[in-house]
Amino acid sequence: MTTDIAIVVGAAGGIGRAIANRLADDPAYGQVVALSRRRPDGWTAGPRRAWIAADILDETSLAAAAARLAQSGPVRRIVVATGRLHGPDFGPEKTMRSISFESLSTLFAVNAIGPALAAKHLLPLMPRSGPSVFAALSARVGSIGDNSLGGWYGYRASKASLNMLIRTLAIEHRRTRPLSVCVALHPGTVDTALSAPFQPNVPPGQLVAPDQAAAALLAVMDRLGPDANGGFFAWDGSVIPW
Ligand SMILES: NC(=O)c1ccc[n+]([C@@H]2O[C@H](COP(=O)([O-])OP(=O)(O)OC[C@H]3O[C@@H](n4cnc5c(N)ncnc54)[C@H](OP(=O)(O)O)[C@@H]3O)[C@@H](O)[C@H]2O)c1
Repeated sequence: MTTDIAIVVGAAGGIGRAIANRLADDPAYGQVVALSRRRPDGWTAGPRRAWIAADILDETSLAAAAARLAQSGPVRRIVVATGRLHGPDFGPEKTMRSISFESLSTLFAVNAIGPALAAKHLLPLMPRSGPSVFAALSARVGSIGDNSLGGWYGYRASKASLNMLIRTLAIEHRRTRPLSVCVALHPGTVDTALSAPFQPNVPPGQLVAPDQAAAALLAVMDRLGPDANGGFFAWDGSVIPW
């Protein structure tokens, strides 16, 4: 049986949980590790499913998780599925008048800084030989080239920042792991708590279930060759402009 490990950061979220469940059903992995602030619903620990409590904004928790995982088998997949779009005190800005230090700080922390800290502690767990994939869930609205509508300042800018961090991590990671790829992925418009307040504006037929998005994203990850390193891709594998 394989000893390969897959890690899902943010495994308690809508897309993260669906990805973790699919990976746990995949015989290519000996163990799937859910990293999240709370145990994902229905995620019962067993020989193939582990849960480690971690907050991406708390480096001590990430370092402790990495130390535990250092004794495990080779980590071939890491998916960072954390993210934030709105909160009790803020939502996506329709106008510059809604920009605030507090909401921008929160969005940059969760959407850009946290995934970079997760990468800092988890990427070194990937084997130096053989293929492996690190994917962070970004969003198409983080594309600067694709921004023709405006609005959503904090979410757009924090995801654009995430994309730059992933691209830069990819270059450094490649120096020691020639067959490993780091990418940013757009999951599509997915039926989760994050998208819930905006679903009435989604055109018919465009909202997909978390499991459908998970299947598509995992298929993209499985197809990525070494040339994909540092790229930004949609759920269907198409390249998204920066
Ligand atoms: N849904 C969509 O339509 C859509 C579209 C484009 C991009 N995305 C991206 O896809 C990713 C997943 O989104 P989703 O739709 O699955 O949203 P979700 O259901 O709200 O899940 C987001 C997860 O992020 C976790 N999180 C937030 N801050 C954290 C922290 N400091 N430490 C650890 N975990 C933290 C939350 O943890 P708790 O459960 O503990 O609160 C939650 O489980 C996000 O990056 C999002 O931007 C989603």
